[in-house]
Amino acid sequence: MAEALAPRRVTRRTFLGWWLASLLTATVITGLAPILVYFWPAPPKGQKKGPINIALQTPIDQLQDGNAVKFDAPRSPNSAFIMADGGGDNAPGELAFGGYVVNNQGKVNVFAINCSHLGCSVALNEAAKTFDCPCHGSRFRLDGTVLHGPAEFPLSHLTWKQGPNPSAIEVDGIVLGF
Ligand code: FES
Repeated sequence: MAEALAPRRVTRRTFLGWWLASLLTATVITGLAPILVYFWPAPPKGQKKGPINIALQTPIDQLQDGNAVKFDAPRSPNSAFIMADGGGDNAPGELAFGGYVVNNQGKVNVFAINCSHLGCSVALNEAAKTFDCPCHGSRFRLDGTVLHGPAEFPLSHLTWKQGPNPSAIEVDGIVLGF
């Protein structure tokens, strides 16, 4: 007749092995977690990329040659525009909180407001038909190219399209959610 199976005994050695393995695993996870979070941070809650609707103070079809109209990113919810290109202090994917729609010899461009030197906001110089930076004196032509340094790179474009009427544009951006 077969003997009844005796319950398997956990030896002290086995128990200590499991205990040490658990301790080691917990220590490694605790040590690695902050490093993993640093390299792969969770996206901030509420952030969402997409077109941002802007109402221009001057409709595009009334923008005279050599003129520009400034616009700002919405504050509620807090949003920003995404640069399409750039150099120097600007780069594709960087954020801008304002921009200009400019009519340059019939061609309409939309630029981020950031100077490519160190990121100050440029202002339209209506008399000279340039964008001038108040920080270190850089100047840009209405096509965004550098007229005067220290900036070495042109203004960054924003990706946009006209909305349902000439006062409305949609600019690629992001709702920041904070
Ligand atoms: S930030 Fe514009 S010239 Fe320096």
